[in-house]
Parts: sequence; C-alpha cells; structure tokens
Amino acid sequence: MQGSSLLPGLCFLLSFFGAVIPKIKASCNCPPNASCVNNSHCTCNSGYISGSKQKLFTFPLETCNDINECGPPYSVYCGSNAACHNVEGSFYCRCAPGYRLQSGEERFSNSSENTCQDTNSSKTTQGKKELQKIVDTFESLLTNQTLWRTEGRQEISSTATTILRDVESKVLETALKAPEQKVQKIQNSSVAIETRVITDNCSEERKTFNLNVQMNSMDIHCNDVIQKDTQGPSAVAFISYSSLGNIINATFFEETDEKDRVFLNSQVVSAAIGPKRNVSLSKSVTLTFQHVKMNHSIKKAFCVYWENTKQGGLWSRDGCFLIHVNKSHTMCNCSHLSSFAVLMAFSSQEEDPVLTIITYVGLSLSLLSLLLAALTFLLCKTIQNTSTSLHLQLSLCLFVAHLLFLVGIDQTESKVLCAIIAGALHYLYLAAFTWMLLEGLHLFLTARNLTVVNYSSINRLMKWIMFPVGYGVPAVTVAISAASRPHLYGTADRCWLHLDQGFIWGFLGPVCAIFSVNLVFFILVFWILKRKLSSLNSEVSTIQNTRMLAFKATAQLFILGCTWCLGFLQVGPAAQVVAYLFTIINSLQGFFIFLVYCLLSQQVQKQYQKWFREIVKSKSESETYTLSSKMGPDSKPSEGDVFPGQVKRK
Ligand SMILES: *[C@@H]1O[C@H](CO)[C@@H](O)[C@H](O)[C@H]1NC(C)=O
Ligand SMILES: *[C@@H]1O[C@H](CO)[C@@H](O)[C@H](O)[C@H]1NC(C)=O
Ligand SMILES: *[C@@H]1O[C@H](CO)[C@@H](O)[C@H](O)[C@H]1NC(C)=O
Ligand SMILES: *[C@@H]1O[C@H](CO)[C@@H](O)[C@H](O)[C@H]1NC(C)=O
Ligand SMILES: *[C@@H]1O[C@H](CO)[C@@H](O)[C@H](O)[C@H]1NC(C)=O
Ligand SMILES: *[C@@H]1O[C@H](CO)[C@@H](O)[C@H](O)[C@H]1NC(C)=O
Ligand SMILES: *[C@@H]1O[C@H](CO)[C@@H](O)[C@H](O)[C@H]1NC(C)=O
Ligand SMILES: *[C@@H]1O[C@H](CO)[C@@H](O)[C@H](O)[C@H]1NC(C)=O
Ligand SMILES: *[C@@H]1O[C@H](CO)[C@@H](O)[C@H](O)[C@H]1NC(C)=O
Ligand SMILES: *[C@@H]1O[C@H](CO)[C@@H](O)[C@H](O)[C@H]1NC(C)=O
Ligand SMILES: *[C@@H]1O[C@H](CO)[C@@H](O)[C@H](O)[C@H]1NC(C)=O
Ligand SMILES: *[C@@H]1O[C@H](CO)[C@@H](O)[C@H](O)[C@H]1NC(C)=O
Repeated sequence: MQGSSLLPGLCFLLSFFGAVIPKIKASCNCPPNASCVNNSHCTCNSGYISGSKQKLFTFPLETCNDINECGPPYSVYCGSNAACHNVEGSFYCRCAPGYRLQSGEERFSNSSENTCQDTNSSKTTQGKKELQKIVDTFESLLTNQTLWRTEGRQEISSTATTILRDVESKVLETALKAPEQKVQKIQNSSVAIETRVITDNCSEERKTFNLNVQMNSMDIHCNDVIQKDTQGPSAVAFISYSSLGNIINATFFEETDEKDRVFLNSQVVSAAIGPKRNVSLSKSVTLTFQHVKMNHSIKKAFCVYWENTKQGGLWSRDGCFLIHVNKSHTMCNCSHLSSFAVLMAFSSQEEDPVLTIITYVGLSLSLLSLLLAALTFLLCKTIQNTSTSLHLQLSLCLFVAHLLFLVGIDQTESKVLCAIIAGALHYLYLAAFTWMLLEGLHLFLTARNLTVVNYSSINRLMKWIMFPVGYGVPAVTVAISAASRPHLYGTADRCWLHLDQGFIWGFLGPVCAIFSVNLVFFILVFWILKRKLSSLNSEVSTIQNTRMLAFKATAQLFILGCTWCLGFLQVGPAAQVVAYLFTIINSLQGFFIFLVYCLLSQQVQKQYQKWFREIVKSKSESETYTLSSKMGPDSKPSEGDVFPGQVKRK
C-alpha cells in the first residue's frame, strides 16, 4: 500500500522538476558577466558594459566587456600621489612609489580615502624614531649589569615591574601622539612592538583584531580598546620581550610548592590599552605563545601574568586560563591586561636515571624469579595444593603486570593504546593485590587451625572463593573506574592513571585497604605462632629458630605487599631515599616469592634435588652430594606451609 501511494508522489516531483528547471534556464540565457532582469531581458554586472552600450538587452549574442574605470570617459581620480589601477570588473587606487597609506594598507578606492604620505615625511618617521628610542632605552637597561647584579629577588622583581610599566606607557603615549598612524610596528632583537590606534567606533575595524609580534599574538575585541568616556583616540600596544624571561624567570612563580620544576617556555609579552590604563575587559583577550623549547614532553602548562605586589612582583595565575597547548604553541585567555608568559613543567628533566636503572634491574630479576616460581608450582605435582595455587596466581598476576609495565608504561604515542595499557596495568596490579589478600587470609586461617586437623575445610573454602574474588573484584573495580572517567586512563608521559580528581584512588584505595588487612593478618599469625611454638616445645625454639622465624616473617611481609605502603612516604626531605627503597623492595617482591615458597620449602627443595640429580647424574655425583648435604640437616617436612620449615606439628 505504502509503495503504491509513494509512487505517484515521486512521479509528480520528477515531472515538476523536469518541467520547471528547463523553463528557468531557457528564460534567462544571459552572456558571461551579465544577469537577468526578467525572463526576457539581461543586464551587465557592475564594472561591465555591453557591446551595444545598452543597459538592458535581449540579443542573445551580446557581450559584456570590462569597463576601464581608470581611462576615459570615467578616469577615476584617486587623489594626489596615487594612481588608479584597472582590474577585470573593478579598479583600485594605490599610493605612488615612495608613499604609503597611514593605515599601512595597500589599496583604497576613493580619493576621499587618500592618506598617501611621503614615507620620508616627518610624521611617519617621528613615530618610528620615538619607538626606536624606547627600544634603545630598554636595551640599555636590560644590559646594565649594575641594575641586575644585585642578589635581592625583591629588587630584581620591582626593577622589572618598573621597566615593564615604563615601556608600556611610553609606547602608548607615542601611539596616541600620532593617531593618524593607525598601525606601527618595530622589531629589535630583544623587543618587538606593535601598536594600533582606533579613532572611530570600531566601525572600520573588524570586531576583533590581531596583534602579532615575533612569535606571539594577541586577539582583542575592538570594543574593549575604545574607551567610551574619554575624548579622542584609543590605542592598544602589544610588546614582546625575547630575553626578559631570563631575569624574571620561573623562580618568581607564586606556587612554589609545585613538586615539578617549572620553566618559562615563552617570551614575556605585555599588552596594554590607553589612554586610561586600567579598565576592565568585557571579553577576555586570547594570547598565543610560541614555545621556546619545543621538543620536550610537556607535563603541565600554566598561563601566568606578572602581578605587581608590594614585594615587587611575581608570576600569578589569577584570571588567566589555559585553552590549548600542543608541542609548539600555547593559547591562553586572560580577563585582564598585563605582562604574560607561559610556564611549563617538563616531565623528562626530572627523571632520575639511577631510579630508572634500579627499576629495570629489579623488575627483570623479579620477572625471572616469578617465572621460575610459576614453573615450579605448575610442574611440581607433589606440592600442588590450595596454597600453591594461590602462589601460582599471585606469581602469574605479578609477572604479567611487571612485564606490561616494562614494555608498555611509556607507549604514550597512541592515546587509545596508552589508555588500554593503563587500564590493563590497573587491573593486573589490583588482581595481584587481591591475590596477596587471599594469601594473607589463607595464612591466617591455616595458622589458626594448625592444631585442629581441619585443614580440608579451609581448602574447600579457599577453592570456592579464590577465583571469583581474585579476578572478579579487580575487574569490577576497573570497570567502574573506566565507566566513570575513561579519559583519565593514560597521562601525557606515562600510561597510568591520572592524578587529577582523585582518580588514582581507584588504585590506591583498594591497595591501602589490602595491605592494612594483610598487616593485621600478619600480626595475628605471628602472635599465634609465637604462642604455639612456646607452648608446644619450649626447648626447641632456640635462638636460631627465632631468627629464622623472624627472617621468614619479614619475607612474608614483603610477599603480602605490606611494603607498598612505603609509596606513601615519598614526600618530604627523605623522599629521594624512600623512592629508592620503595623501588628496590617492590622490585624484589617476586624474588621473595621464589625464595620463600621454592628455595626455602622442603618439598620444593626435594623436587629440585630430584630434578637436579636426574640432570647431572651422568656428569658428576659429588656435586649433588654437597648440595643435598648442605640443605639436608634442618629440612624436615612441614605440612603447615605457613612459614615453611618452621612450624612442626606434634
Ligand atoms: C566575467 O566573465 C569572464 C569570462 O567568462 C570570467 O572569466 C570572469 O571571471 C567574469 N568576471 C566576473 C567578475 O564574474
Ligand atoms: C522585462 O523588463 C523590461 C524592462 O524593465 C521590460 O521592457 C519588458 O517588458 C519586461 N519583460 C517581461 C516579459 O516582463
Ligand atoms: C626618501 O628618502 C630617500 C633617501 O633618504 C630618497 O632617495 C627618496 O627619494 C625619498 N622619497 C621621497 C618620496 O621623497
Ligand atoms: C567617494 O567619496 C565621496 C565622499 O565620501 C562620495 O561622495 C563619492 O560617491 C565616492 N565615490 C565613489 C566612487 O565611491
Ligand atoms: C636593536 O637595538 C640596538 C641598540 O639599540 C641596535 O644597535 C640594533 O641595530 C637594533 N637591531 C635591530 C634589528 O633593529
Ligand atoms: C646602570 O644603572 C645604574 C642605576 O640605575 C645607573 O646609575 C648607571 O648609569 C647605568 N649604567 C649604564 C651604563 O647605563
Ligand atoms: C561613538 O558612539 C557613541 C555612542 O555609542 C556616540 O555618542 C559617538 O558619537 C560615536 N562616535 C563616532 C565617531 O561615531
Ligand atoms: C632566575 O633569575 C634569578 C634572578 O633573576 C637568577 O638569580 C637565577 O639564576 C635564575 N634562575 C634560572 C634557573 O635561570
Ligand atoms: C586602577 O583601578 C583601581 C580600581 O579598579 C584604582 O584603585 C586605581 O586607582 C586605578 N589606577 C589607575 C592608574 O587608574
Ligand atoms: C577565550 O576568549 C575568547 C574571546 O573573548 C572567547 O571567544 C572564547 O570563547 C574564550 N575561550 C574560552 C575557552 O574561554
Ligand atoms: C624537534 O623535533 C623535530 C621533529 O620531531 C626535529 O625536526 C627537530 O630538529 C627537533 N628540534 C630540536 C631542537 O631537537
Ligand atoms: C599548535 O597550535 C597552534 C595554535 O593553535 C597551531 O597554529 C599549530 O599548527 C599547532 N601545531 C601543531 C604541531 O599541532
């Protein structure tokens, strides 16, 4: 039904266009540069005249030719020191060579707009001379050693404040003295200046206009430049200082508690309007800075202005916002006029090479240990039980997490890939921590039930909750994090969680909780064992035994992830030392797993010895003997496997 009702409509539309379009075309068949008046008559466009000199024509072979406005009979007059230039369909006036418009523009179209003046004329050169004088004064101040050699930061900053203010007001004064000189520009190696004078109500100018000196530009709204309650012209000045940033550098940044070292990565620019100096802006100005150093990876960027204070001056962020930053440029919006600059923190410069080496070496050792441990747990059939499967999962999670960390943490080129890596790392490390928690729980349950021969019930419980908890809880956590703020995965310099908006607590929160719980488990286990040991057999618990217990307990502390809390101490004066300690200890976690669960476990030792004997049987018998005799004496089988080799049930 629908199809059949559509068909007539379609047919109607097709026939309508088919009928109408040819008619329009046929009615208005005018030559080039002409247009139709009605369906029979054409007229030439402005700037053209028909061959028959008729205004309206119907003859289809009529042509429209360009009018030479500069020649007779029109002979447009452009005013003195200017000449008319004809172009196809139009014309323009241009100042004669050696002359130029006051506005700096190239072309005009009416003698009434003729402001052509001798480029050597006093008015033109006067302004330039005055600007040059300002530049020279500034340069002499900048290079005056006695002015800057002082140690006092306050003196330096107040001198800089005075100089900036003086240059601004002198430049504006110069611009306003010659308002007919609409645009003035001067550039020197150390300072570049552009001024604009506005004499009307922003009718002639574009609504916003752009001032551009050296590598920086400013967009300001015309209405903010004109000053309604003052008579006469208004002016805006934009000044760029190429070397002033070496004097009022990033050490004058007010936020000195920033952990990152910041650098001035742009020229210092000044923007001012006159004659009234401090009027508030209705629309913010947009500043675009080109960076001085381009090939650094930017960690943070700040748009700052030079705030005049009682103490002289400092770089402040109030009222200036970062809009956009890429490798080469920074854009800022500021709600007031002053002197501006861009401060940046670079990530590459604060990287500690020693710490990097420690991380790589430690993680590599850990990876190797974890691989060996995982292989042992997998291949050694005789020791397989609940605790070894816990160890196995923990080893696997840590192994994959560390491997991905080594390979992927710096893959910041692709944003999507980086976010995926950050998410995967988040998941893997959370999973590793969850397995550490399960280890702690298992340890505690085992210790508590040591005397009760009810080991199998714990095993059954652990088997039930192990995998859903170990892999499910981290997955839920990461899913919630990723769903709420996916853009916070992956930062500019590493594929990890953003520190903004407390997002990192999606990792730190669970980790803190886990190591607190594990610490409690650990203390309880230690206390239970101590009590049992002394009650069981006071003669056996010799000093050596206690020492061994202490060592294994410490190792257990590492395995349970309690050492990760060192990460929180990485502030204050000892931060560097703690950072080293943190890196070393946590890189060794894998090694401790291998040491405690494999090298120091009797069952595993036996298995190793068996394998070792098989391998070297044909080669050397004596070597095996030495090894087994070394490990032999204090290795008695332990079923507990709490602190392996220590707990002996009677
Ligand atoms: C006038 O016609 C010529 C020839 O078709 C064309 O090249 C030219 O662009 C036209 N001029 C204008 C102002 O349209
Ligand atoms: C078209 O306009 C011309 C001039 O205005 C007029 O003489 C002529 O009659 C008009 N033709 C039609 C068909 O309206
Ligand atoms: C401007 O001065 C230069 C030399 O100073 C001279 O050659 C030139 O003719 C002058 N231009 C005019 C328009 O007078
Ligand atoms: C030139 O300007 C004068 C005065 O503003 C005006 O009367 C005249 O029509 C203009 N001429 C052209 C060709 O625009
Ligand atoms: C910059 O100023 C110095 C001294 O004032 C002057 O010698 C030099 O020629 C100027 N450079 C330029 C490019 O104007
Ligand atoms: C440098 O500055 C000091 C203090 O303002 C002034 O006394 C001295 O004359 C200046 N020297 C030069 C070479 O300009
Ligand atoms: C500018 O605008 C104000 C009011 O908006 C008006 O009083 C004044 O005459 C205008 N000036 C010019 C030069 O157009
Ligand atoms: C920063 O400026 C101060 C004084 O102007 C100077 O003493 C210091 O060496 C500068 N620091 C850097 C890193 O350039
Ligand atoms: C600038 O404005 C403030 C208040 O906004 C005023 O106290 C101060 O006197 C003004 N300064 C000048 C030079 O007009
Ligand atoms: C920056 O300022 C310009 C001009 O006032 C405005 O159009 C733009 O929306 C501002 N951008 C932001 C991000 O505030
Ligand atoms: C910055 O990097 C670009 C390409 O990424 C390279 O062409 C340029 O030479 C580098 N500049 C410096 C100063 O290293
Ligand atoms: C950086 O931003 C500026 C200003 O928005 C733009 O002109 C420039 O092309 C950008 N550069 C790159 C490499 O994206």
